[in-house]
Amino acid sequence: MGSKQERGSIRGTILVLDDEENMLKILSKVLTMEGFHVTTFGEPSAALEFLRQTPTDVVLSDIRMPEMTGREFLVKLRESGLPCEIIMMTAHGTIEGAIDCVKQGAYDYITKPFKTEELLVTLGNALEHKRLKDVNTALSDAWNRKPAEFGGVEPERRLFGDSPAMNRVRELIERVAPSQSPVLITGESGTGKELAARAIHAYSTRGKGRFVAINCASIPETLIESELFGHERGAFTGATDTKIGLVELADGGTLFLDEIGELPLAMQAKLLRVLQERELTRVGGLATISVDIRIVSATNRKLAKCIEEKTFREDLYYRLNVIAIEMPALRERREDIPVLAEHFLRTRGAKHGRPDMTFSENALDALAGMSWHGNVRELENVVERMIVLAETDVITTDLLPDEAVQLRRSSTSSERVTRLGLSAQAMIEEVPDFRSARDSFEREYLEALLRAQNGNVTEAARHAGMSRRNLYDKIEKLGIDLTLIKGDAGREG
Ligand SMILES: Nc1ncnc2c1ncn2[C@@H]1O[C@H](COP(=O)(O)OP(=O)(O)OP(=O)(O)O)[C@@H](O)[C@H]1O
Ligand SMILES: [Mg+2]
Repeated sequence: MGSKQERGSIRGTILVLDDEENMLKILSKVLTMEGFHVTTFGEPSAALEFLRQTPTDVVLSDIRMPEMTGREFLVKLRESGLPCEIIMMTAHGTIEGAIDCVKQGAYDYITKPFKTEELLVTLGNALEHKRLKDVNTALSDAWNRKPAEFGGVEPERRLFGDSPAMNRVRELIERVAPSQSPVLITGESGTGKELAARAIHAYSTRGKGRFVAINCASIPETLIESELFGHERGAFTGATDTKIGLVELADGGTLFLDEIGELPLAMQAKLLRVLQERELTRVGGLATISVDIRIVSATNRKLAKCIEEKTFREDLYYRLNVIAIEMPALRERREDIPVLAEHFLRTRGAKHGRPDMTFSENALDALAGMSWHGNVRELENVVERMIVLAETDVITTDLLPDEAVQLRRSSTSSERVTRLGLSAQAMIEEVPDFRSARDSFEREYLEALLRAQNGNVTEAARHAGMSRRNLYDKIEKLGIDLTLIKGDAGREG
């Protein structure tokens, strides 16, 4: 944007586009007298060229022009991503076209012939709107510039974690976000698929547009078509008004199709058409409506298997899966667990009015050793529960879920027995001798501990309160395979 100093006391920069010379002359004179900086053009292509080079606040454009219509000009202008506002000038009886332009992103329209006052009011509003947008852009740019953090929007919406696996995901997101290609995000439940989709949107050129999320699994099959594509008034019983569908709503932004594997086959065909033709028809409607959307979809299903079972269209799959992002399971990146746990402790703690909570070192270690089949979402829930239950500001091991407690020495002997698969009944019928029960416990305990430390023996020994030498002896005696554990730490809990 042109700096405010350059403009001095100018009220704003205006570009007027009209094929009538006279109109250009009059508007130029009037607006200059009112304190605006005015540039005039008779040809849309020349105006576009100028706008690309010169920061401009508002464009006043005629609708009927020989070279290209005002609407085509508007679409090109919006596509270019330039931040200027545009007001359409329409002659007698072409209001319909003007309204359509507003739908396409024009700020407003004004009917010829108009009074100067009328024009000034509309222009003033457009300038104010533009100013607010500029402030917003500056704010979100400031967010994006924050190093080491990611996500563009609120801290709640950032992807935390610094493991190599997470860094790869982040790099991929940053790399593909600016393109318009569809992205398919896969991964287990709770791994952050939706968060990744939001990050792609925030980092794309569509970041200021809408992010419309649809959960394909949660909309009843009978409603899904009208939810997605909208309907015309009277299309079916109960359709008392025309309704814009979610796909149309996402125009200019990103459409997030969550649980895409659950989309009924008939809808898959309709979605394919949107992807191919970039247009849709509302239920009960005849008109074809163009949409400009970027599709990001997500699934925790194996779509290849769905294709085999003929519940998912192969052609749609290839359309959606242009860029593939796989969210790693939490147990495949255990080093992220402390970072994420601390993050949730801060955010959830603040939510519950307990902003000063901390974890004891043991508690953090134990969390890192758990299996986390519910991934980040499970961790988030576990941390929140502990915040609510904690009586002091320190979260200690006694607040941890059973699974983690079992890994700690603080567990009671009866829990250990149960954990070893020895029910009271079994104890009566088939009691293992003390030594093998102890060996079995020691092996399980040490393996879990070593896994939590990524196979680092020194760290594990420190946590167990034993010497390194002693731990090595145990490892050898119990036949624990360290190479397997190190491999596991990268793969499995
Ligand atoms: N890397 C991360 N940093 C911070 N929070 C995260 C991260 N990953 C996930 N979360 C949080 O975990 C929760 C689950 O994430 P999200 O809803 O994106 O997962 P999902 O893969 O879409 O899950 P599902 O398959 O169950 O829909 C959310 O509250 C999200 O904010
Ligand atoms: Mg989700």
